[in-house]
Amino acid sequence: MRIAIGADHAGYGLKQVLLEEGLSGHEVIDVGTHDTSSTDYPIYALRVARLVSSGEADLGVLICGTGIGMSIAASRVAGIRAALCTSEYMARMARAHNDANVLCLGGRVVGPGQALAILQVFLETGFQGGRHVRRLRLIEEGGAG
Ligand code: RB5
Repeated sequence: MRIAIGADHAGYGLKQVLLEEGLSGHEVIDVGTHDTSSTDYPIYALRVARLVSSGEADLGVLICGTGIGMSIAASRVAGIRAALCTSEYMARMARAHNDANVLCLGGRVVGPGQALAILQVFLETGFQGGRHVRRLRLIEEGGAG
């Protein structure tokens, strides 16, 4: 798979772990950041989201301190369903039910072992389709209410 990955300074360390231990065998596009100097998470969220939205990447991974800012910013890009996951269960459901195409992690929330397990589940799980297609369509259409 082609995976786009990005992080701010608070997610940089975990990004390096995922690059070294979690993404071998995949084609990876690392959009930065490349050190721990303070920077702004929306820069990387939007880079990764645009790569996924355009089809240049199949899935994205974003890491900041909590994962919250990344998930908010990335989900503003058309076609992006960014999911903040703190457990393997959340990662499985994010793919199976929500067809999430960007995984967001908190570098100050989950440890490297947990993050690697979450990433693995996210990459291995497919979208279930069925009733979930209707729900995603409602999101795209702006809701039925
Ligand atoms: C940076 O201090 C922090 O605000 C950022 O990494 C992230 O957690 C924002 O959501």
